[in-house]
Amino acid sequence: MTDSTVRVLFVCLGNICRSPLAEGVFRALVREAGVEDRFFIDSAGTADYHVGDLPDPRTREVARRRGIQLTSRARQVQVEDLETFDYVIAMDSQNLRDVRRLAARAQLRAEIRRLREFDEANGGDLDVPDPYYGGPAGFELVHDIVERSCRRFLDSILAPRMP
Ligand code: 4NP
Repeated sequence: MTDSTVRVLFVCLGNICRSPLAEGVFRALVREAGVEDRFFIDSAGTADYHVGDLPDPRTREVARRRGIQLTSRARQVQVEDLETFDYVIAMDSQNLRDVRRLAARAQLRAEIRRLREFDEANGGDLDVPDPYYGGPAGFELVHDIVERSCRRFLDSILAPRMP
């Protein structure tokens, strides 16, 4: 990791469904673009319910079928994350509020955004829906949203538009 490494942290509630998926999908896209050496990518949860756990088996299965292996272990987001990452990307508005509350105690470095700000098909909805208590279709939908959004997010970093 060098000074010019772009550090990206994806954040959801439990760090077992949405944010580890975003981490894995974004890493695959970065690899595909041949710019792996320019990025440090991680994910975390606002809650500590699942610390140390692998991603949810339902999330892993959908990702596996789409060629992505998820092997991260859940951790809780820390004040220091806001001081060291360049981008902290929240999955929904509640995560955003929780991250902002934490950021109030930080020497803030990170730009804090919601992932669906980068989803051209968001229809005005900026939340990646929490699939945890729902059925299998929810996990497919989350994967579609995350993939679409991560593509545009990466594009925005690699080819920033003039204001
Ligand atoms: P995630 O999903 O925030 O996308 O990881 C959830 C995982 C676990 C719980 C809620 C949401 N939970 O209540 O344990």
